[in-house]
Amino acid sequence: MDGKTKLCGLIGNPVEHTKSPLIHKTIANRMEHNLDYAPFLVQEDELEIAIKGAHALNVWGLNVTVPYKSEVIKYLREIDSYAKRIGAVNTLVRMENGYKGYNTDYEGLYRAMRSEDIDIQGKDVILLGAGGSARAIAHMCAKYKAKRLFICNRNLHKAQEIKDSIDDGVRDNEYSEIEVYVVSMKDCADISTEKAIAIQATSVGLYPNVDEVVVSAPQFYEKLEAAVDIIYAPSETLFMKHAKAAGANTMNGIKMLVFQAIVAYELINQCSVNEEIVQELVRIIE
Ligand code: ATR
Repeated sequence: MDGKTKLCGLIGNPVEHTKSPLIHKTIANRMEHNLDYAPFLVQEDELEIAIKGAHALNVWGLNVTVPYKSEVIKYLREIDSYAKRIGAVNTLVRMENGYKGYNTDYEGLYRAMRSEDIDIQGKDVILLGAGGSARAIAHMCAKYKAKRLFICNRNLHKAQEIKDSIDDGVRDNEYSEIEVYVVSMKDCADISTEKAIAIQATSVGLYPNVDEVVVSAPQFYEKLEAAVDIIYAPSETLFMKHAKAAGANTMNGIKMLVFQAIVAYELINQCSVNEEIVQELVRIIE
């Protein structure tokens, strides 16, 4: 660090297990940027002062994690239109009088899927889950033109809320037409589709509960051409094992984790991270 070092960081609570410093510092090192990255533990009643203080201290860019992805919005100078629809930001880019908020989770998953030759355009997508991550993924499906989106969840109200937010985006001409259906999780194996891409965005199967899976019916997996699990520990979930056994292309959440950080780095530093660095980061995180 010297007088010209750009300091970036992560705000959240807790922050001690984060991989963001490793990823951002590796990119900075490979790109020969004079940049450092620190985790900042922020208490709930100090979020506003943390954001204002970071700006006053010339902090160059921030990532935001649990539990502040939504709450932080009210302290921003500007917000990207997709992040606004998703209702959550995870990246703050410095502007003159404050920060502009973006959501790189959905873009990260999109780029991760593309790097594995999984393309949702014109396809049926079955999204399992309707929590915060699923909401960002549903908007990715709308932005990148899936044909039909089936949102499956136990709590139908949460799935309906996501559908409503996408329908609003279609009405506002942010998205082109997309058919969105709300499906009870127990009925997800009965969805009528010839070939679909499934994206598993519930917490079921996460370490240490590696023997759990959100849907076990074989007829669910028979319809899949690709199955993506946003979980990265374990690296192969039971969901992925079932899908692989049925012949689907599978992918875990490691690349999503890496790409959401890469997209954040690119936004904060107005640059493009090359494929060689991407591959190195995936190896490191794996
Ligand atoms: P995240 O921010 O990671 O998306 P979240 O917002 O807590 O986390 O969402 C967790 C998701 O996992 C939800 O879709 C939740 O379903 P409900 O909305 O019905 O609670 C889903 N989930 C968690 N445990 C589940 C279980 N045992 N069976 C089915 N779905 C489950």
